[in-house]
Amino acid sequence: MINKIKNKIFAYVFWQSRLGDLLNKIYDYRLFLKYSFRKDALKSKGQYEYFLTKQYHIIEKALGLPEPRPEFGQKVVNLIIDIANDYIQKFGNGKIIHNIASCLQDYLDFNREKGIDLSRPYYQNIKNFVEKNISDVKTGGSKELLKKDIIKAIDFDYKQFVNTRTSIRNFSDKEVTEKDIKKIFETARITPSVCNRQGWKAHVYFNPDIINQLLTIQNGNRGFTNSINKLILVTGDMRAFTTLESNQIYIDGGLFAMNILLSIHHAGLGAVALNTCFPYVQEKKVRKIANLEKYEKLIMMIGIGHIKESFKVAMSEKKAVNQILQIHK
Ligand SMILES: Cc1cc2nc3c(=O)[nH]c(=O)nc-3n(C[C@H](O)[C@H](O)[C@H](O)COP(=O)(O)O)c2cc1C
Repeated sequence: MINKIKNKIFAYVFWQSRLGDLLNKIYDYRLFLKYSFRKDALKSKGQYEYFLTKQYHIIEKALGLPEPRPEFGQKVVNLIIDIANDYIQKFGNGKIIHNIASCLQDYLDFNREKGIDLSRPYYQNIKNFVEKNISDVKTGGSKELLKKDIIKAIDFDYKQFVNTRTSIRNFSDKEVTEKDIKKIFETARITPSVCNRQGWKAHVYFNPDIINQLLTIQNGNRGFTNSINKLILVTGDMRAFTTLESNQIYIDGGLFAMNILLSIHHAGLGAVALNTCFPYVQEKKVRKIANLEKYEKLIMMIGIGHIKESFKVAMSEKKAVNQILQIHK
C-alpha cells in the first residue's frame, strides 16, 4: 500500500508536475556545467578538440567571405596555435591538428596573394606550425564551388523526395544490415552545426534484448515495438558546447537526426522518430542500458526497418505555407 502511494507520488512529480520539469532542468544543467567547455579551463581531449574546431572555423569562415580583410584574425590565429601546441603535447597529433594546419596553409596563401610580407615573426610562427603538422590531404580552409555543379546536383524532384518521407510504424521482416547503416551515415554525417562542431553521435543497436529494454522505457512505441528492426539512439556531446549554448546541443542534435531520417529515406528504408522526453530517472536507466558516455545527452531514438510492398501510415497533414510563413517587408 505504502509502495503504491509512493509510486503514485513519484509518477505525478516526474511525469506531470512543473516541479518534475524543474528537477529535470536542474539535472540537465548540472550535467551541462560539468561537461561543457570553458575557454580558460579546457580539460578533456574532447573539450580541446571542440574548442579548437570553434576557433579554426572562424578562420575558414572568413576565407569564404566576399572580401576577406588582409591579415585578419591575428589574435585568433595565435590562440589556435597556442592551444593546438598544448593539445599536441597532451594528446599527440591527430585529425584536428591536420585540419588546423590545412586551414592555416590557406590563410598563409591568402595573405601572400594579398601581397603581405610573410617574413614577419607572426607568419613565421604559422609557417612553423604548418610545416610540422600539414598532411597530404586538404581538410581545412576554403574550397571553391561552381554554380553549374550545384545546379546539376539539384536536378531531381526534391518535393517528391520529401513528400514520400513519412514516419513508418509497420516495417517488413527483412534485416537491416550494418552495410545499410553505414551507407545511411555516409550522408547523415554531412549536417550543418554550430561552428561545424558536430557535437553528436548515433548509436545503433543490433541486439534485440537491448532494443527491447530501450523501447520498454521509451513511451511512444506501443503497438509497433516488434516491427522495429534496429534502433538508433541519437545523442549530443556536451563537451562540444559552452556558455549560452546549453540549448544548442538539441538544435544541432535535431538537425543531425533530421538528416538521418532523410538519409534513411534516401537509402530506401523506413524510419520513425521516437521521443526521449522522459524524467531524468528514466534517462539514467537509458544511459546505462545504451552504454553511453557521461557527456552524452539524449536527443531522440529512431526506429528503422525495411519497407513493405504496401502499408498504411498516418496522414500527418502538414500546415500550409501561409500558416507557417510570415514575410516581413
Ligand atoms: C522528436 C520526435 C519525436 C517523436 N516521437 C514519436 C514517438 O515517440 N512515437 C511515435 O509514434 N512517433 C513519434 N514521432 C513521429 C511524429 O509523430 C511524426 O514525425 C509526425 O506525426 C509527422 O509525421 P511524418 O513524420 O510522417 O511527417 C516523433 C517525431 C519527432 C520529430
